[in-house]
Amino acid sequence: MTQPRLYSGIQPSSGSLHLGNYIGALQQWRTMQGDFDAFFSIVDLHAITAPQDPQVLREQVRTLAAQYIAGGIDPERSCLYVQSHVTAHAQLAWLLSTITGFGEASRMTQFKDKTAKGGQESASVGLFTYPILMAADILLYDTDVVPVGDDQKQHVELTRDLAERFNKRFGSTFRQPKPVIRAEGARIYDLQNPQSKMSKSADNDKGIVWLLDEPAKTAKKIRSAVTDTEGSIRADKVEKPGVTNLLGIMSAMTGTSVPDLEAHFEGQGYGVFKTEVADAVVAELAPVRERTLELLADPAELDRLLAANAERAAAVADATLRRAMEAMGLR
Ligand code: AMP
Ligand code: TRP
Repeated sequence: MTQPRLYSGIQPSSGSLHLGNYIGALQQWRTMQGDFDAFFSIVDLHAITAPQDPQVLREQVRTLAAQYIAGGIDPERSCLYVQSHVTAHAQLAWLLSTITGFGEASRMTQFKDKTAKGGQESASVGLFTYPILMAADILLYDTDVVPVGDDQKQHVELTRDLAERFNKRFGSTFRQPKPVIRAEGARIYDLQNPQSKMSKSADNDKGIVWLLDEPAKTAKKIRSAVTDTEGSIRADKVEKPGVTNLLGIMSAMTGTSVPDLEAHFEGQGYGVFKTEVADAVVAELAPVRERTLELLADPAELDRLLAANAERAAAVADATLRRAMEAMGLR
């Protein structure tokens, strides 16, 4: 029985995942892992394209691994590993960089967005070649599907272009991956500023629910979410972004559809509504937080698990790298 292969990853660039990551990435991965031969990586080589304190980075890698597992990724079944533990990523990225056009790389909108503020002078070359490393991640594992947010779609398209170009030039080597873009409903917005998506880089912490926040703090943030003055509980992205966001969150937490929630809350006030949403979020996240803290209490066991999975990953990745090198005349 061979299942199609799935690959995805998250950067260890914060001390905790937020509710957007949880709903948009982890919940989706957890559901998919039964139907795919899945690889989930902690992309530390991507994280260092922005300045990181070494000690903090090391802790954040462990914390992210613990959150993956606590959130339902089964490390016995899916391969959960740290990108830098598998040397083939950086090696294949170099090979792929030699067939990537400078103009092609310059068109990546994430690079343009990330350098819009500080300017290209303060951006590193690593930030520029980031999408090529991501292509290497995906191609090393003969990946069939890549679940990502729509902001990463362009990078997966680049990956497909590079695979096709390489295969044409050097002979069939890589499998063509397909992006699986999350449904729009899975996008979670900032509680204080429901026009923007919940993001770790927001200026104000009040609008972000961190997975590792204490439950009382989470409940308080949700009860203080910005809504509107109309007073009715219905989804309307344009007129009522705050209420719509809370309905989406509640739906993801409980599995109840938004129309059913609208019916459930008919005639209720925002106070009752927010309290119920807060309760649902706490009921889902508190056990995940507890489990994360338990796992972090035994870092040696976590490290052992990550090392074992890195070996599994390297076995696949090294074989692909060897194929690519031979195709290029390098071995
Ligand atoms: P990031 O924190 O931006 O590196 O994202 C890590 C993962 O979480 C990616 O799969 C994102 O698409 C997803 N993600 C980030 N923010 C949100 C959000 N506000 N709503 C839904 N998914 C998100
Ligand atoms: N660039 C992705 C993000 O910021 C993370 C990532 C790195 C990734 N390599 C990947 C996602 C490979 C999917 C597949 O979200």
